[in-house]
Amino acid sequence: MKIMRSVAQLQEALGGQHSIGFVPTMGFLHEGHASLLEQARAENDIVVLSIFINPTQFGPNEDLDRYPRDETRDQQLAQSAGVDYLFYPTNEVMYPLDMARVTVRSGDDVLCGASRPGHFDGVLTVVSKLFNIVRPTRAYFGLKDAQQLALIEGYVADYFVPVEIKRCPIIREADGLAKSSRNVYLSDREREQAPGIQQALVEAKQALDQGQPLETVLEKTRTLLQFEGAAIDYAEAVAYPTLGPVDATTETILLAVAVQFESARLIDNLLYTRGA
Ligand code: PAF
Repeated sequence: MKIMRSVAQLQEALGGQHSIGFVPTMGFLHEGHASLLEQARAENDIVVLSIFINPTQFGPNEDLDRYPRDETRDQQLAQSAGVDYLFYPTNEVMYPLDMARVTVRSGDDVLCGASRPGHFDGVLTVVSKLFNIVRPTRAYFGLKDAQQLALIEGYVADYFVPVEIKRCPIIREADGLAKSSRNVYLSDREREQAPGIQQALVEAKQALDQGQPLETVLEKTRTLLQFEGAAIDYAEAVAYPTLGPVDATTETILLAVAVQFESARLIDNLLYTRGA
């Protein structure tokens, strides 16, 4: 595995005729990232991993400064996942002039976009830069960040970006908690409460299977998400991948939740296809 810190060096190495699988991350890698890398490794000649904690997707009071970092462990995981090139840019490399940014037009007024204004502008800005640098054949994103994934798919379609976006499944701990770099923030008590998020989604799926109305299911989900010392940020349903309101014609519903614990904000979701 080669570590690259400059765009020119990386692009020279990637030139030529081969398929490039790309996994963009903010580091502090876990099994969720490993599964993206595994799929990228199986489907491409070359695998590129980027690690960049993108400042423009963090709000003023968010965790940019304390976002977990562990370069040594990340390099070991990347090496064992068969990564060919690990791209570690700095802020100066990624934002040389910072004269232009991508702006989301729709789909960021709900869920995490509503709670974190400007977040998805920052995500699409950095993803667009990374796509231009790496020029991947395929790029791999986890469904845990389902809204992010839908907005990236929308950006790629709207801008005719020549990349195939691969939706990858949510990877969970044995007790059901979705893997996230931010799980490390949880106190012991919060870590015990956190699997309740997925339990609420499992119950929501059962209720939808039984034909219960969506509003009733959402009400019940909100009840189940009431953990002591935590606050529900949202528990909502939107059409997927349009992120618009659910109506009678909606085939796939994204039932998404965010819970603000004292030390971390956790998200999880369920993609539910009607009649499936
Ligand atoms: O999902 C993430 O880790 C980030 O939002 C991404 C896509 C790497 C952009 O910074």
